[in-house]
Amino acid sequence: MALTPHSVFLLLCFAFSYTALAVILRTTEKTVWTNEFDSAELSCLIESISTNNPRIEWKKIKNGVPSYVYFQNKISGDLEHRAWLREPANLVILNASRSDTAQYRCEVAAIDDQKGFDEILISLAVRVKPEVPRCTVPDSATVGSSAELRCLENEGFPQSQYQWFRNDEELPDDPKSSPRFLNSTYTVNPDTGTLKFRTLKKSDAGDYYCVAKNEAGQAKCGAQLMEVYDLNIMAIFLKVLGGVVAVICVIVGLCHICKKVSCKKETGNNYKAPRHDDGVDYITADEGHFRHKSSFVI
Ligand SMILES: *[C@@H]1O[C@H](CO)[C@@H](O)[C@H](O)[C@H]1NC(C)=O
Ligand SMILES: *[C@@H]1O[C@H](CO)[C@@H](O)[C@H](O)[C@H]1NC(C)=O
Repeated sequence: MALTPHSVFLLLCFAFSYTALAVILRTTEKTVWTNEFDSAELSCLIESISTNNPRIEWKKIKNGVPSYVYFQNKISGDLEHRAWLREPANLVILNASRSDTAQYRCEVAAIDDQKGFDEILISLAVRVKPEVPRCTVPDSATVGSSAELRCLENEGFPQSQYQWFRNDEELPDDPKSSPRFLNSTYTVNPDTGTLKFRTLKKSDAGDYYCVAKNEAGQAKCGAQLMEVYDLNIMAIFLKVLGGVVAVICVIVGLCHICKKVSCKKETGNNYKAPRHDDGVDYITADEGHFRHKSSFVI
């Protein structure tokens, strides 16, 4: 079919009359972000309409369940006293709360239009500041052992990212990237807040704290000291302690044997016939001493 000027004119007339008789909505933002306690505006622009008094409604859809927000020219539900409608059909929310995070649907019904209904879906996401994270730091550990430090909070939205600090200095993701942490063997996970040391060095000791952060703000836990003990010092200390205990035991044992021999002589008891199966001789006057000796022997 050839496009004569006449047919083009008819086509344009048809297109014009059709759009003129349709309600069409548009939004400037399909996803709106705001911070908790701030305001937000969900835009619902009416691009074309020929009905004078269209019916405007807003619904909130949370977990698939719709509820009325604006119905019969009134704000209802949990947005009551906190929201209003701005021309032509924008929804303005004041003092947004975390529970406002949902999808909102603007619906416009125009009875005089040929296509008399349109709707548009807008997501609202309310950012929430992190709360003070719970941090777990071991008090002490030995050189060469492994250690895990944890940091977690659950209020922040979007989910917090975590950073660890030692003596007020941030631990870089890769210890090799900083001369100060070069010898350290840690890995840090900013999503889970876990800081893991594969083999502790003495230089890993220090005051540790963690910061939880998102676009809405940040919060940190109090610093906690992690001490890292040298294994050699521990070993020397244990050896010395062991030696002292051994000497004491020998002395106590010798004293007791002397005592026992003198006892036997006095009472004339048979040394080879103990009275009890457990071999503990209760005849001895100084029972405390005797227990010492038997535990020493065992
Ligand atoms: C905002 O809402 C919170 C509760 O979500 C309330 O505690 C606070 O007083 C409100 N602020 C204003 C300015 O209305
Ligand atoms: C890292 O280890 C080397 C050799 O053990 C040492 O000389 C250096 O001082 C250490 N660096 C830090 C920052 O602890």
